[in-house]
Amino acid sequence: MRVLVIGGAGYIGSHVSRQLLDKGHDVTVYDNLSSGLRKNIFAEEEFVQGDIMDYESLAATMKKGFDAVVHLAAFKAAGESMLMPEKYSRNNISGSINIMNAMCETGIKNICFSSSAAVYGEPRYNPIDEKHPQEPLNYYGFTKLAIEQILSWYDTLKGIKAAVLRYFNAAGYDVKGRVTGLEKNPQNLIPVIMETACGVRKKLEIFGDDYPTRDGSGVRDYIHVSDLADAHIAALEYIGTNKRSLLVNLGSEEGISVKEMLAAVKRITGKEVPFTIVERRPGDSAELYASSKKAHAELGWKAERSGVDTIVESTWNAYRKEILHE
Ligand code: UD1
Repeated sequence: MRVLVIGGAGYIGSHVSRQLLDKGHDVTVYDNLSSGLRKNIFAEEEFVQGDIMDYESLAATMKKGFDAVVHLAAFKAAGESMLMPEKYSRNNISGSINIMNAMCETGIKNICFSSSAAVYGEPRYNPIDEKHPQEPLNYYGFTKLAIEQILSWYDTLKGIKAAVLRYFNAAGYDVKGRVTGLEKNPQNLIPVIMETACGVRKKLEIFGDDYPTRDGSGVRDYIHVSDLADAHIAALEYIGTNKRSLLVNLGSEEGISVKEMLAAVKRITGKEVPFTIVERRPGDSAELYASSKKAHAELGWKAERSGVDTIVESTWNAYRKEILHE
């Protein structure tokens, strides 16, 4: 396949591109490098520096001819989205509409879209399947839901087939160490722990230890980013072959608490990670993990690298190399 990976210089995008290249596909990355990194562009791929708000540039790039688009270009900080909804409306929603319209203009029929477990909001039950009510707690989650709905209309009206992938907590790094760009100013748990283990941050703040969970800290479903990448390829093949849109959760189906993750990092890295317990973070749920049965049934996909040890080891290898130069 000839695939245009929009946001392909970012954390998830670079892993998706790596996996596509490994499987022999042609990859062009389109990225504005606002959070993506030039070092995440692989030698085997084409790179276009461009913004999804620049319709002309998007359409000109798409005119080169692609079988599919993978769209991962979005802001993803839930807290920030509540303070700056305009930024999320513009980039996440209008930017996605630009992508869909440019696809219509250039005749590209298949798109794989990065959605999120944030569309569900407060869990009514676990594991969360795709039928769980969708009531986002933050504007970021709403932007993902809105795009899902627009994609569904573009399927009906324009015949664009979409694979909507609702990620749970993406984590880990390429186990072969080929992705070396670390996220800038990370907010997510594992990179924050890693920066603390490397001495970049003084301590980890655990957002609440009085949740009704097994140890009081928040429980999440961490899914290895290369497992996510595999699912993108399977999903593109699915919509291409079946000429049918698809919506699936992607998770490991296992819940890990903040304290369990911290203990795993200490065990694997041998480093001290100072921490303090602080107030709960607004908008956080106690516990959520996925049912990925549908992805298994439709795509034959299952998480294979998403054990805690593989996630922590692969992330630590990236941080140790890039920050400690070990
Ligand atoms: C959320 C979204 C996810 C989105 C991701 C991107 C939901 C359900 N999930 O994940 O879809 O793609 O953000 O950013 O909305 N924690 C700490 N200290 C920290 C950081 C995190 O204790 O410094 C805790 C959190 O309270 C939570 C867990 O670690 O219990 C994971 O947090 P985080 O990595 O930020 O991801 P989510 O908020 O679960």
